[in-house]
Amino acid sequence: MLHPPILISPSVLDSDLARLAQEVDRIASADLVHLDVMDNHFVPNLTFGLPVVASLLEHTSMRADVHLMIEDPDTWAPGYAEAGAATVTFHAEASRAPVKLARELRAKGARAALALRPATGVEAYLDLLPEFDMVLVMTVEPGFGGQSFIDGVLPKIRRTRAAIDELGADIWIQVDGGVSRDTIARAATAGANVFVAGSAVYRADDPATEIAVLRELATQAWTD
Ligand code: DX5
Ligand code: ZN
Repeated sequence: MLHPPILISPSVLDSDLARLAQEVDRIASADLVHLDVMDNHFVPNLTFGLPVVASLLEHTSMRADVHLMIEDPDTWAPGYAEAGAATVTFHAEASRAPVKLARELRAKGARAALALRPATGVEAYLDLLPEFDMVLVMTVEPGFGGQSFIDGVLPKIRRTRAAIDELGADIWIQVDGGVSRDTIARAATAGANVFVAGSAVYRADDPATEIAVLRELATQAWTD
């Protein structure tokens, strides 16, 4: 198996959103900051959109990992790439033309990522993997932080990693939802290398310690 980088991407969903820039400063030791954009249509929750993300990017040097849980990403996603997001992730269930959109995001300088809800199969996308820089395999139903990790998604992660290895491609697999000290090793062993953690990091006494512990557990699982 190729050894991709191990990256920790805390989600600010569980932070004090009125103090967003300061909350991002608290996770400066992380590799990315995960920004959950929800529109109350694709998921039954509402967070923030492009004006807030663009403004935040003016206040941080961290690379932004934008997770769009919105309808019509074909229209809205390119704006996040233009605002300087490092990665723009959109949902397979919401996009009308995922390959066209991924190419547009790449052309605007962002990494393009495809997200799959727990019940969405990866099979239809295996031949198209080279069009993407990352696949986000959701490990909870998107919409809320603090949910339990769904172990039934692990075989999908394994199949995705096997397909990436077969291609010999540098494509990352992200997991998002219920990632914690208890679950991160299972996700890493299955082949995930980018780990979103919301409540595990922001409800910890010391976010920096939690980030270090999660990174160590994931690295250990990859070397075992
Ligand atoms: C859920 C979001 C996640 C969420 C993760 O729909 O996409 O990024 O913040 O939160 P935890 O880590 O608490 O499950
Ligand atoms: Zn997310």
